[in-house]
Amino acid sequence: MDTQQEATAPRIGFIGAGRVGKGLAWGMAQGGQRVVAAASRSAVSAAQLAARIDGCRAAPHAQDVVDGSDLVFITVPDDAIATLAAGLRWREDIAVIHCSGATEVAVLDPAARAGAQTGGFHPLQLFADPDVALAGLPGCTIAIEAEAPLLSQLEHLAQVLRCRAIRLPPGCRARYHAAAHYAAGFVITLLNEAVELWHSFGVGREDTIRALLPLLRGTVASVERMGLAQGLAGTYSRGDIGTMEKHLAELARVGPDALHLYCELALRSIPLGLERGGYDEQRAAAMRALLLAASKP
Ligand SMILES: NC(=O)c1ccc[n+]([C@@H]2O[C@H](COP(=O)([O-])OP(=O)(O)OC[C@H]3O[C@@H](n4cnc5c(N)ncnc54)[C@H](OP(=O)(O)O)[C@@H]3O)[C@@H](O)[C@H]2O)c1
Repeated sequence: MDTQQEATAPRIGFIGAGRVGKGLAWGMAQGGQRVVAAASRSAVSAAQLAARIDGCRAAPHAQDVVDGSDLVFITVPDDAIATLAAGLRWREDIAVIHCSGATEVAVLDPAARAGAQTGGFHPLQLFADPDVALAGLPGCTIAIEAEAPLLSQLEHLAQVLRCRAIRLPPGCRARYHAAAHYAAGFVITLLNEAVELWHSFGVGREDTIRALLPLLRGTVASVERMGLAQGLAGTYSRGDIGTMEKHLAELARVGPDALHLYCELALRSIPLGLERGGYDEQRAAAMRALLLAASKP
């Protein structure tokens, strides 16, 4: 950035110097953005964020960040956003953005009432620490909720971070965030289900995970290469009713919980098997009937 560009580029500030705050601030600064100030609950965290960015200062109070920035990212825990936003003095020529997935942008209404633009900027990734966040950002999707002109500014910042951007309409964040669990924590929950089933015939957790991880990687690779329906493999891609019946009989012996979960997932796999062309509607109906009968209490 030359001196003239630097003078007109928006000054970016961060309140909350944790995993996401540091990761985004460092990534934006590396991408040539003007990150000028950071505040956090502890001075140490703010200083750590600022130390890796030329021209960025650790501010003693969140209000200092607001007063000296054009774009303020609030990167505190979800439950702290509302109180923080309500306790600061905002102004018209500022934009304030939170990074929570499930929290509505309306939580920033105290700033909106003062004339500020408000938005959401949610990086769809799990960050265990700030360096993981920085390294993990490229290739991620950032879900952006904002109106023009903030929208294009945030889309530009997503590009700077080498992320893809998707737009979220107002009011859908909890649904958006709930759905993301299917590609994150719930995958682990499903692996744990397999661990428990294998444990029942004597294979330990570590061996099960080692055995299943290559399968999981293969599944992810198939989806990347071929998409959901064509990437589907196994019983429900082919419509193997005989195998399915063996599964149902065995899981009924394990217990109603194990059987119920299996049936729910199997029922939701059938539309993908149909789309893949693995079987016809008549076979799908037979499969559904067996699954529904098996899952009845
Ligand atoms: N981690 C993820 O995987 C992830 C992914 C996407 C989005 N997010 C979202 O990003 C936001 C931040 O999450 P995070 O994982 O970065 O949390 P985090 O690592 O716990 O960091 C939060 C930071 O905010 C500071 N803080 C707490 N309360 C504060 C307050 N009242 N005023 C000022 N600073 C305060 C903390 O204090 P100290 O100063 O004491 O350190 C900490 O540094 C959340 O909205 C979260 O939903 C997280």
